[in-house]
Amino acid sequence: MVNIAVLGYGTVGSGVVEVIRTNQEIINKKAGQEINIKYVLDLRDFPGDPVEKILVHDYDVIVTDPTVDIVVEVMGGVDPAYKFVKRALLLGKSVCTSNKELVAKHGAELIAIAEENNINFLFEAAVGGGIPIIRPLKSSLTADDITEITGILNGTTNYILTEMAQKGSAFEDVLKVAQEKGYAERNPEADVEGYDACRKIAILTSLVTGYQVNYENIHTEGITKITTKDFEYAKAMKASIKLLGTSKKDGDTFYSMVAPVMIGENHPLFHVNDVFNGIFVHGNVLDDVMFYGRGAGKLPTASAVVSDVVEAAKYLKSNIATLWSEEEMELGDFAKFKNKFFVRMKDKGLDDDQMMDIKNAFGNVLYVKAPGIVDELAFVTEPICEGDFAEHIKNFDDVYSVIRVDF
Ligand code: HSE
Repeated sequence: MVNIAVLGYGTVGSGVVEVIRTNQEIINKKAGQEINIKYVLDLRDFPGDPVEKILVHDYDVIVTDPTVDIVVEVMGGVDPAYKFVKRALLLGKSVCTSNKELVAKHGAELIAIAEENNINFLFEAAVGGGIPIIRPLKSSLTADDITEITGILNGTTNYILTEMAQKGSAFEDVLKVAQEKGYAERNPEADVEGYDACRKIAILTSLVTGYQVNYENIHTEGITKITTKDFEYAKAMKASIKLLGTSKKDGDTFYSMVAPVMIGENHPLFHVNDVFNGIFVHGNVLDDVMFYGRGAGKLPTASAVVSDVVEAAKYLKSNIATLWSEEEMELGDFAKFKNKFFVRMKDKGLDDDQMMDIKNAFGNVLYVKAPGIVDELAFVTEPICEGDFAEHIKNFDDVYSVIRVDF
């Protein structure tokens, strides 16, 4: 029998208990032994809930109990999760977590501690909710030089953008529903400003490169400036707007970014809608591969956490190697990253003069019209360096929108 302790009885923690209770027999069989939830840690009481009998408020009870083999950290946030997890690992207990903040910030160190202690630090649920992506990157896609990883990595924002695109719904209304469904972060700013996706692409890029990618160094934009008018132009171009986290190899380094991007209908992520996430990986010999599934929500996320528990139980006293050193990866200079841009600005009625200024700044652009929208000039540039674009766009007044384009 393997004893586990679940830290946090919120959305994911209660999901972990539910998944284990629902699929106990299958899970035991796959783990090769019984998985027993010995403790649940939470500050709150849950009178009448079945976990009442195994609920503890003091982490010491768990970490000092030598019969606890695996700690499941689903509290979120770095403090006190980092302290709890590090202590468990140092005492020889494997840890499974869904905590992307913790993994992005301290992943390399915690992996090293697990390796030294011949146990495991596993984090399948930290990226892509229920989608298996961490294990495939660690164990399956090992024959390739991975040259691109691009994903819709945040379920909340994908849900919001899909509702805005398909129903013209207001941003705030859709966000509220995402919160009710348990998709959003406690502070949804982390979702809508792109911080959550940023941590996830940092984790993926660290796994792809084997070095520590600091998320603070990744250029990050959220979706708060996207309007229904932008969607009207996107529709006119048979495109969609998605919040993408991307890392593309260039020589010995990677350019990384999180930003809303207009993608065309041939893009592999075009049909990834609602709370679903999609992660596209390109390898030099494999070519393209896609991972798709529910990127947030109680049971899909818990499914990924429990899959780690099964893995940790199978490899209780042996470390599964994870290539992620504490040495920092220097990302490519963002100013040199080339992208195409969609721009909407006020039509000043100066016709040739304004168009000449646009041509002088951005070269040959493709003008776009959306039905019923007047008094605006909208265009798509050729690929241009981020730094050059930023330098030129600031010379234009009344710019309504700037969105990167990938088609
Ligand atoms: N808030 C996150 C999302 C939860 O919406 O994707 C899953 O990490």
